[in-house]
Amino acid sequence: MKSNYDKFERKIVLITGASDGIGRQTALDFASARAMVVILVARTDSKLAELERNIKGSSWAGQTKVVHYCCDVSNKKDVSDLAQKVIDRFGYVDILVNNAGIGIYGKLEDQTVEDVELVMRTNYLGTAYFTKAFLAPMISRRSGHIVNVASVAGSFGVAGMAGYCASKYAILGFSESLYHELYGTGVRITVVSPIGVKTNFFNHYSFGPRKPNYSGFFLEPQAVSKAILRASCSSRLEIIVPFYVRAGVWLKQTFPFLLNPLVGWLFRRQLNKSERSVSHKS
Ligand SMILES: NC(=O)c1ccc[n+]([C@@H]2O[C@H](COP(=O)([O-])OP(=O)(O)OC[C@H]3O[C@@H](n4cnc5c(N)ncnc54)[C@H](OP(=O)(O)O)[C@@H]3O)[C@@H](O)[C@H]2O)c1
Repeated sequence: MKSNYDKFERKIVLITGASDGIGRQTALDFASARAMVVILVARTDSKLAELERNIKGSSWAGQTKVVHYCCDVSNKKDVSDLAQKVIDRFGYVDILVNNAGIGIYGKLEDQTVEDVELVMRTNYLGTAYFTKAFLAPMISRRSGHIVNVASVAGSFGVAGMAGYCASKYAILGFSESLYHELYGTGVRITVVSPIGVKTNFFNHYSFGPRKPNYSGFFLEPQAVSKAILRASCSSRLEIIVPFYVRAGVWLKQTFPFLLNPLVGWLFRRQLNKSERSVSHKS
C-alpha cells in the first residue's frame, strides 16, 4: 500500500481558492504529503503569500516547491493568462483542484441578476475555464486528475440558495459528462461534495445574521481536505463528505416525493425565520 508520500511526491498540484478555508487546508495537506509542487491560486495576494511562507518555513513540507498566483477564476482572460504562465513554467499539472467558490444567500426575488451571474461565473464557469485550460496537456500525457469541489447543494435545491445550488448542480453535470468522455484517456475526474463546513464562506454580507453557528453537523475543513486528497487518487465520480449523507441523496433521488417536502420545509423555515429577524433589526 502506497503512503501519501509515495503517491504525491512527483505530483504538481494546482488548487484554486487556496487563500482560505478548504483550499488553504488542502494546500497544507498536499504539502505535508510531500507533493513536488503546490500552486496556490486565489485573488488575495497577501493571504497566498502568507500561506506560501508558512509552508516554506515548515519542516513537514520537505522538498515541496510552493508558488502562488493571483487570479479571478470568474474572469476568462485571467484564467488563460495564468494557465499560460503555469504551463510555461511547469509544463502541466498532475492534479487540478477546482475549489474556489462563493455563495450569496436570499430569496431570488431579492437578488440581482448580477448576483446570480457572479455565483455561476465563479463556481461553475471558473471550474470550466480551469478544466479547459489544463485538460489538453493531461490528455496528451495520458495522466492527470481533476477534483471539482461541489457541495451536497449540487443534489438538493434549497430555499435561499437558488443561484448557488444551480452552480453546484452544473459542476456535477459537467463533471459527470467529462467522466464519461475521459474514459480510457488516463485522465480522471472526481467531484467532492461536502455538507456544511466551518469556514469563512458564510461571511459574505448576504448571510448577515443568518451565519450558521457551526454547531452539530458542520465539518472541519480538514475532513474535506482529506477527501480531496483521496479523490485525487480515486476512480469514483463523486465522494460525498461525510459518506453517510449519500444515503440522503439516494433517498431524495429515489423517493423525491417523500424527501423534497421535508427539505423544502426545513430550509424555507430557516429562510423565513432569518428574514423576520433581519426585518426586526432594521
Ligand atoms: N463552507 C461550506 O459550508 C461549504 C460546503 C460545501 C461546499 N463548499 C465549497 O467549498 C469551496 C471552498 O469554500 P470554503 O468553504 O473554503 O470558503 P472560503 O473559506 O470562503 O474560501 C473560498 C476561497 O475561494 C476563493 N475565491 C472566491 N472567489 C474567487 C474568485 N473569483 N477567484 C479566485 N478565487 C476565489 C477565496 O479567495 P479570495 O477571496 O482570496 O479570492 C477563498 O480562497 C467552495 O467551492 C464552496 O462552494 C463549501
